[in-house]
This record gives sequence, C-alpha cells and structure tokens, in this order.
Amino acid sequence: METDHSDKLVILGSGNLAWHLGPALQNAGFTILQVCSRTENSARLLGERLGVEWITDPAGIDEEAGTLVFCISDNAIPDLMCRIELRTRPVLIHTAGSVSLDVFNGIAKESGVLYPLMTFTKDRTLHLQNVPFCIEGSSEYSLALVERMARGISEKIYQINSEERKILHLGGIIASNFSNHMYHLAADFLSARGMDFEILKPLIMETASKIMEMEPAASQTGPASRNDTDVIQDHADLLKDLPELQKIYTFVTDSITNHFNS
Ligand SMILES: NC(=O)c1ccc[n+]([C@@H]2O[C@H](COP(=O)([O-])OP(=O)(O)OC[C@H]3O[C@@H](n4cnc5c(N)ncnc54)[C@H](OP(=O)(O)O)[C@@H]3O)[C@@H](O)[C@H]2O)c1
Repeated sequence: METDHSDKLVILGSGNLAWHLGPALQNAGFTILQVCSRTENSARLLGERLGVEWITDPAGIDEEAGTLVFCISDNAIPDLMCRIELRTRPVLIHTAGSVSLDVFNGIAKESGVLYPLMTFTKDRTLHLQNVPFCIEGSSEYSLALVERMARGISEKIYQINSEERKILHLGGIIASNFSNHMYHLAADFLSARGMDFEILKPLIMETASKIMEMEPAASQTGPASRNDTDVIQDHADLLKDLPELQKIYTFVTDSITNHFNS
C-alpha cells in the first residue's frame, strides 16, 4: 500500500504570506520539510523561523514531500511548477485569489487552493483563527487535504470555485488595497504640507468600524454625498498642481455623487 505523505510539506516562496502561513501550518500539525525560495536571504530567514532546511534550487526539493505549497507571485507559478520534477508527484497547492485551479492541469495528479482572504505583511502579528480561508480541490482527496489545512488554522472555511474566488479577490482589492492606497496618498499629501498623518487615524478607525454595524452606503459622509459643489470645486483647485491626485479626487467624487444623487 502506498504511504500518504501529504502532511509533509515544502513551502515555495518566502514572502509575506509564507511568513505567516508556514508557522500556522506547523501549529496545525503539518510537517514542513523545507522552504524553497528564489533569494537566499529571504529563504534563510523563513527557514530559520520555521526551524527547517532552506534551499534556493527547486532541484533540491525533498522527494519525501507529499505536498508543495506555492506562496509565490501569481505570475511565477506556471514557470516554477514546470521546473519541479519529482518522481513522487506531490499534491500542488497554491494560495492565490485570482489564479484558477486549472493552472495545475496536466502537471499535478492532485491539486488544490488554500486562499486566505486577508492582507499579510511580514513582521505583523496576525491571529489567523478568524481569517476566511477559501478552499478548492481537484478531487475529494485534495479537497479533504486543503480543508484539513484550513481547519487547523481558522474557523472560517469556504469551499468555492475559481471563478467565485476571483470575484472575492477583486472585492477585497477594491475594499482593502484601494483604501490603503488612499491612506498612502493622504499621508503623502499631508506630509508634503508639514502635517502628520497621525491626526487622521481616529477618523480612519471609525470609518472602518462603522461598517461592521451599518451598510457601507449608509455610512458615507463628506461633501460628495451631500453634493456640496462649492467645497468640491475648492478641493479640486487645491489639487491643481497634483494632476494625478486631482484626477483621483474628481473620479471618486463623481462616483459618490452619482450613487447618492441619481
Ligand atoms: N500578502 C497577502 O496579503 C496575500 C494574501 C492572500 C494570498 N496571497 C497570495 O500569496 C502568494 C504570495 O504572495 P506574497 O504577498 O507573499 O508575495 P511577496 O511577499 O511578494 O513574496 C513573493 C514570493 O515569490 C517569490 N517570487 C517572485 N517572483 C518569482 C519568480 N519569478 N520565481 C520564483 N519565485 C518568485 C519571491 O521571491 P524573492 O524572495 O526572491 O523575491 C517571494 O518569495 C500570491 O499568490 C498571493 O496572491 C497573498
């Protein structure tokens, strides 16, 4: 009878997600055999964090590995996947929001997706038990494996397909990545005028916490939702030397105005 090695993992990549997912998988009872990542320094740092061997050449991946967990840039998955040649044909799992499970077609015998809907940054402390994990498997076997991984980490598991995951990912980008970019723009705008972004933090906190109890549409305030056209024009004039920011201001203002005044 064939031995099931699926609990013996190799983590591919050593970026923001791998930094958090690696320890979480260890805590969930999985054995991480190695970290394999492109750059020596980041591979070593993650290897040391997990207390496991680290390598930079996929040719050195342990034949004992039953599962390879891709935590690398989405674009790089197909190329790296084709450079891995293991007799044992491990389960291939990726962690991306907008990459279809089909990426493994023709390469993997078994494959799956373990996508945490969260923003991960190295050196941030993050508790993963409430992080939604979206899972998908190419078979009952691989689905059971990703489900076991996810359940060992979080209480919120969603079995969804690649199309649904892409939609969720896009929603997350609009809500989270775009908001963060707005913080970045506001911080630069204030600091160029000798003012500190710190003063905006209570406002940002209340804006985020309000939508835990109210619909986002009901939470909206500001000149665009009130259609205060004089203030809007004044702001656009203030931004005349910052054409990119002026364009964003006008575009977002028009979007809010259209929603509230149509
Ligand atoms: N961070 C998040 O918030 C988050 C959330 C959910 C899912 N994910 C998913 O997690 C995966 C990793 O994202 P991340 O945020 O951890 O990215 P990241 O911090 O930018 O790290 C990317 C990793 O991929 C490696 N890499 C990049 N290009 C490569 C290539 N051509 N060949 C081999 N390795 C390459 C990098 O190697 P180097 O160390 O050499 O640069 C690095 O180890 C992605 O699929 C992403 O969609 C991320």
